[in-house]
Amino acid sequence: MANPSPNHPDLDESINVPEVHAALRDDSIAAGREKSIRENGMEPVGLIMLIPCALILLLGGSVLGKGGNLFGYNELFKEGYMRAPAPGGEEIVLPPGPALSLFSKEGAKVYGKCIGCHGSDGAGGNGIPPLAGSEWVTGNTDQLSQIIIHGLKGPVSVAGVDYNNNMPAMGEGLGPKELAFIMTYIRNEWGNEASLVTPEMGAAALEIAKLRGSDQVDVVELKNNHDKMLPGEPLSPESLVDPETLEPVEQPAAE
Ligand code: HEC
Repeated sequence: MANPSPNHPDLDESINVPEVHAALRDDSIAAGREKSIRENGMEPVGLIMLIPCALILLLGGSVLGKGGNLFGYNELFKEGYMRAPAPGGEEIVLPPGPALSLFSKEGAKVYGKCIGCHGSDGAGGNGIPPLAGSEWVTGNTDQLSQIIIHGLKGPVSVAGVDYNNNMPAMGEGLGPKELAFIMTYIRNEWGNEASLVTPEMGAAALEIAKLRGSDQVDVVELKNNHDKMLPGEPLSPESLVDPETLEPVEQPAAE
């Protein structure tokens, strides 16, 4: 019989390997059934503690949920509350301003629709006529409004130069105010000088536009039907208008 190898005790023939393994397996199963012992302070909580705690939490939750005024928003919110003005500061009311500059400011925004063709300097180019120095722009507002709303086709002479091109209808999305402001803007920009167009006149332009089809206007039609000013009370460039609504104000706010 050879000496058992210290590294391989199972080679010792006196050991019954299946027996030893079986014993090991039984042990591990038994160990698994055993409740493991927790460290001090980590023992599981007994039901006798758990149930009262759960009840307290439930009760607390219902108190918070519908519990009258304990945490009620209505306690903090005072009916008719108004924030007091900051010390030394009254509410800021923008003063009325002159109609021309306020209308033009709005009109400049609408001009974004035209700028691609007529240019930021209103000089046109590439077969597109200028708005600067154009008698169509500073002339009769009925004509001008219908060019903008319906577009323009065919031969047209602008500041002594002949054009024969095509402008698409630009009326889409333009209400009475936008029309008034874009016309006021181009009539008074780049050295142009002409009367203001009011939202009332803009509304009249839309009414006139409705009476014809939606195809582009041409010079003949403009001369025949639209060679006049839009109806409406004129507004002087310096008249004061409200900076928010752009409606005329009665009195200069003297305070
Ligand atoms: C796609 C290019 C294009 C756009 C955008 C455009 N136009 Fe025109 N516009 C033209 C062309 C081209 C003519 C000349 C049409 C012709 O020859 O019959 C013209 C002519 C005019 C005229 C008459 C002639 C003149 O030069 O005075 C006015 C006024 C005018 N446009 C204003 C406007 C305004 C305002 C807008 C923006 C709301 C606008 N256009 C947008 C291309 C354009």
